[in-house]
Amino acid sequence: MTQASSTPPRLRPPIGPRLTPHKALDADDVRAAYRRWAGVYDHAFGGVSAHGRRQAVAAVNALTGTRVLEVGVGTGLALPHYAASKRITGIDLSGAMLDRARARVAEERLANVNQLIEGDAEATGLPAASFDIAVAMFVASVVPNPRLLMAEMQRVVRPGGHMLFVNHFAAERGPRWWMEKALAPASRALGWHPDFSIAALMSAEQRGQARVSPVPPLGLFTLVQLVNGADS
Ligand SMILES: C[S@@+](CC[C@H](N)C(=O)[O-])C[C@H]1O[C@@H](n2cnc3c(N)ncnc32)[C@H](O)[C@@H]1O
Repeated sequence: MTQASSTPPRLRPPIGPRLTPHKALDADDVRAAYRRWAGVYDHAFGGVSAHGRRQAVAAVNALTGTRVLEVGVGTGLALPHYAASKRITGIDLSGAMLDRARARVAEERLANVNQLIEGDAEATGLPAASFDIAVAMFVASVVPNPRLLMAEMQRVVRPGGHMLFVNHFAAERGPRWWMEKALAPASRALGWHPDFSIAALMSAEQRGQARVSPVPPLGLFTLVQLVNGADS
């Protein structure tokens, strides 16, 4: 194959900031990965992510509006923590994860969970403006196209409603930036993307409007809240 330039590929400067995770997963990758994870997910990841999930659900419970869409609901770890007044719809690509969520709803008799849908959060097919709040916990860096996720959340949340995200977002500079860049090639082994940038999810305008809170104790995760339409 002819080399277009004499610069060795590894030394070429980047064309722009990396907006997508080191290796984006497609929908089949996600289904396959979470089919394997479903049985052990709560034990393997439930603990380290508990603070962020609790903080996000507390923020949801404090908002007005009852119609809540939980995007990438997974095994439903958050479901028992919503206020009884909130009516929850969950959506997830993985049938195996949803089976766990359905079992939880039945076991814990969670009467405020309206429906759990197997489907793509990037194209839900749900009616426009049909929710007051949409929340995505530890999902933004897993979906194939984070900007499509954001656009779909904006579409299904009413204007003036709220969108919340808990995720690990890469540092933009400093020692943590260096460490996350170094860890990026291990994304698959780690099961998350240390170099996932908030810019992969949100426009600069949205980032300017967002309310950002670190999640204790380690600050590994961040809660980001956005009012729908604040950027327009
Ligand atoms: C790390 S788990 C988080 C699960 C849950 N939110 C929690 O807090 O434990 C990521 C979840 O996102 C789901 N997911 C990934 N891409 C998706 C998509 N495009 N549409 C719907 N769900 C998706 C996965 O199937 C998985 O259940």
